[in-house]
Amino acid sequence: MEDRPVAVEIEDVSLSYDGVKTGRVEAVRRFSLTVHHNEVVCLVGPSGCGKTSLLRAVAGLQPLQEGTVDIHAMEGQPPIAVIFQSPSLFPWRTALDNAAYGVECITKNKKLAREKALRALELVGLGSQAEFYPSQLSGGMQQRVNVARAIALEPALLLLDEPFASLDAQLRERLQTELLRILAATNATALFVTHQVEEAVYLADRVAVMDAHPGTLRSVIDVELDKSSSLDVMRSKEFLHICDAVREQLGDVPAEMVTRA
Ligand SMILES: Nc1ncnc2c1ncn2[C@@H]1O[C@H](COP(=O)(O)OP(=O)(O)OP(=O)(O)O)[C@@H](O)[C@H]1O
Ligand SMILES: [Mg+2]
Repeated sequence: MEDRPVAVEIEDVSLSYDGVKTGRVEAVRRFSLTVHHNEVVCLVGPSGCGKTSLLRAVAGLQPLQEGTVDIHAMEGQPPIAVIFQSPSLFPWRTALDNAAYGVECITKNKKLAREKALRALELVGLGSQAEFYPSQLSGGMQQRVNVARAIALEPALLLLDEPFASLDAQLRERLQTELLRILAATNATALFVTHQVEEAVYLADRVAVMDAHPGTLRSVIDVELDKSSSLDVMRSKEFLHICDAVREQLGDVPAEMVTRA
């Protein structure tokens, strides 16, 4: 990975919140991480360790107390696209027009936006539901439109915050497989937050493990697995071994936090 160009550099980032009653809450302390082009890094850690805060800071939605975030986008390329847990689609727009929304805003070119959106919908397996409205789609389909809207932008960095957390286990597994394929097919670079160790190891090239109170980076674990055999990899000895290594790093974290779906 190290020989690939850098996509994002997070350096010495500290984040805190000021509350009238709580005073200053230090959420993240001196967090540094470099993500390379076409690399997927998963961020895991106990609830409240600052994963969402960090992702929001990388997305420019949260001010940094200290440190810097540098996203290396190509000319004309949007630096980021964010996929949150809830799909937040416009109910009055079809799947196609929802997926086209981001590109339309940036390029002001409706035709180009619809072309890119249709390609993205096909990638997430919704090519034939392009004219459906969100109310006519299942929860999993809506989340796929959400993914399509982000990948249609072809951003320098995809940011995902537990995008499958509210889905049932079977659908979640299917979307994980689809996402792995889509990330590879689009040469995407991604920072993916999850509570689930298996999800992290399945999707990531590297897993970054955080400590809580305040959130700091504990360690980064390389995932060197051949994922071409899709879900079969999850049953391999190597996969389970890496999951154990991540769990060990999560260490003193109560078991329900580590395995919470
Ligand atoms: N808007 C806010 N105002 C004040 N404090 C906040 C705010 N958002 C988050 N925090 C605090 O910042 C810390 C990190 O929260 P954050 O949501 O980033 O954690 P997280 O790792 O994403 O947790 P989870 O896994 O439960 O989603 C927590 O201590 C939380 O109480
Ligand atoms: Mg969170």
